[in-house]
Amino acid sequence: MTTTLIDGIGLLYTGDPEREEIPCAALVVEDGLVAWTGPAAEAPDADVRVDAGGRAVIPGFVDSHAHLVFAGDRTAEFQARMSGEAYTGGGIRTTVAATRRASEAELATRARALVGEMLAQGTTTVEIKSGYGLSVEHERRSLEIAAGLTDETTFLGAHVVPADMDADSYVRLVAGEMLEACAPYAKWVDVFCERGAFDGDQTREILTAGRKAGLGVRVHANQLTEGPGVRLACELGAASADHCTHLSAADVDALASSGTVATLLPGAEFSTRSPYPDARRLIDAGATVALATDCNPGSSFTSSMAFCVALAVREMRMTPLEAIRAATYGGARALRRTDVGWLRRGARADLVVLDAPSYVHLAYRPGVPLVHQVFHRGLLLEEDIQNHPADVVL
Ligand code: NIG
Ligand code: FE
Repeated sequence: MTTTLIDGIGLLYTGDPEREEIPCAALVVEDGLVAWTGPAAEAPDADVRVDAGGRAVIPGFVDSHAHLVFAGDRTAEFQARMSGEAYTGGGIRTTVAATRRASEAELATRARALVGEMLAQGTTTVEIKSGYGLSVEHERRSLEIAAGLTDETTFLGAHVVPADMDADSYVRLVAGEMLEACAPYAKWVDVFCERGAFDGDQTREILTAGRKAGLGVRVHANQLTEGPGVRLACELGAASADHCTHLSAADVDALASSGTVATLLPGAEFSTRSPYPDARRLIDAGATVALATDCNPGSSFTSSMAFCVALAVREMRMTPLEAIRAATYGGARALRRTDVGWLRRGARADLVVLDAPSYVHLAYRPGVPLVHQVFHRGLLLEEDIQNHPADVVL
């Protein structure tokens, strides 16, 4: 078994709450896992030595919320929004029509390209949702594609009611036949609980059925309006309530006193020109916060976790430390994972060497590509990562 010592780390952000930052650090990788972290001066010997040259090292980003299986284009919708139109979620149906028309190969190629884009930007774990098929067969095939790319797959049949069905019949379909067809490819079930999408009762019915089928629960909650989503997520033991843009005091209390992570998606507020969620209020109340891209063609077409970190710091008043924590450790908590999101002994050796002396530069130098190297399961991904992720499952 070969061991690799990554030496000369200017600042190691471990993501491990017990010892979050180590200056002048080193890290040993053995068999794809982290075997040791600590001050460089105390580093053990290893077979291979890699010199980080004083750069910062962080855990690979954990992007716990993304919609990557789709076809079509919504540039015009974005353009209209930037000329003053509001985002309502109505454009989801445009993507559904294009996704249904696309071949499986086309959808898989596009999703794989987005995963490559993410890897190249330092994301080493990603959750991928269905939700642009909205029929039994189209949802099933979306999830089959997602399952070829990641272990974190989410059944989002309840994204919106498709144009050709009434709400009651659709909820029955999602909680019944569609769930049955999709569950073998899914780890999670999710519902877009929102005015114009699914109400509290419908959300409860679908999530409860998903849970009975063995899936973990996550919810698109309180994105456009205050509503029952967040409290329902906490009540049902969801791993995560996502968006959390419009919260009542009771919602904040529920998040702070439950094991449900508040996943904030500032790319969506950026791209819909909406007010950002109040991250300070959540953190100060004691909630666990995650940051994710929400990468999708409508409300947030970014694959960059670094961009979300910069937005969180500048627009949501998170400190750089809170933001990097939310983008790594927080994302892992939102997926109930303990093997990723931090660099401690026994964790997966998923890490990013930044072309910067500190993780603070992710916000300090917004928009600048700072990824020097990406290690996934202990292996250094080659240059041009985005063009050959074919053998990498995140
Ligand atoms: O997370 N809110 C619902 N779903 C996506 C948007 C999807 C779309 O507009 O295509 C979201 O923002
Ligand atoms: Fe989303």
